[in-house]
Amino acid sequence: MHIFITRPLPNIAYHLLDEEGITYTIWDKDVPQTREELIELSLKADGIINADASKFDHDLLEKLAHLKVISLTSVGFNNIDIAAAKKFDIKIGHTPNVLSQATADIAFLLLLATSRKAFFHHKRIINGTWGMFQPTGGLGIELYGKTLGIFGLGKIGLEMARKCHHAYGMNIIYHNRTSNEDAEKELNAKYVTMDELLKESDVISAHSPLTEQTKGTFNKDAFGKMKSKAIFINTGRGALHVEQDLIDALNNKQIWGAGLDVFEQEPTSTVNPLLYMENVCTLPHIGSATEETRARMAELAAKNLIAALKGYKMPAEVKK
Ligand code: DGY
Repeated sequence: MHIFITRPLPNIAYHLLDEEGITYTIWDKDVPQTREELIELSLKADGIINADASKFDHDLLEKLAHLKVISLTSVGFNNIDIAAAKKFDIKIGHTPNVLSQATADIAFLLLLATSRKAFFHHKRIINGTWGMFQPTGGLGIELYGKTLGIFGLGKIGLEMARKCHHAYGMNIIYHNRTSNEDAEKELNAKYVTMDELLKESDVISAHSPLTEQTKGTFNKDAFGKMKSKAIFINTGRGALHVEQDLIDALNNKQIWGAGLDVFEQEPTSTVNPLLYMENVCTLPHIGSATEETRARMAELAAKNLIAALKGYKMPAEVKK
């Protein structure tokens, strides 16, 4: 059996594949493969481990209908047309749970950094604009005892809620498709409507998967309902918010600040105004980027792929 791997992975993945006698071609160039290159390399393969955001739409999956499995090194699977994968009988694997702590760490880091304008102050040092002590300039806002609203209280949202609750005594409210009784017991978290989440939260942190229903949830209307001192954090997917509406809401002081690990287009343009705002902290989608987490993701992706090729139950198959 032979597979195509779209980016070099931590070694654990290769060890597992070697043990099973599965051979592989790795794309190790500095630029992503084109769609044509992806097709060409995948035509000789039984499966793919996909480690980038390549879009597998109906047309592409039809061309790759011979594949038994596409194993993702991500928890999110919004880049796959799941209905088409079902139609062409291609199994899809993903990596839930193993990256929850690391991603919640980045949400928490962005919240702290945004609340104290940390990236703006760092730029003052390197730009030589430190200047005089300003008793009223560049001030942040405090988080103690405030209300955190989680949009999508799954594994990552729960870790973020725990950190904020334990570090800052924050009250937790959340909006989900279904209630999360564990979080209600553990953190006294309260289920609220979307309108209540927008109106009552001092901080909103977005963690839901990107679907047709959640796309663009944080738009002009939503930002208009939020508190003028609210901070918006997004470490999920950039398309959960409408980027221009977020820019407008920050410029019009409808909300106070934002911390973003994700963008509508990735990589984002270097002229994106969000990169230069005093109250905005941005990172280049590094939620899962720790040595330990990336190794766990590679291990799970390899195990998913091996199970699918050998006909065993995959440890983490995307339900279709
Ligand atoms: C995920 O796993 O979905 C992270 O965003 C990494 O892409």
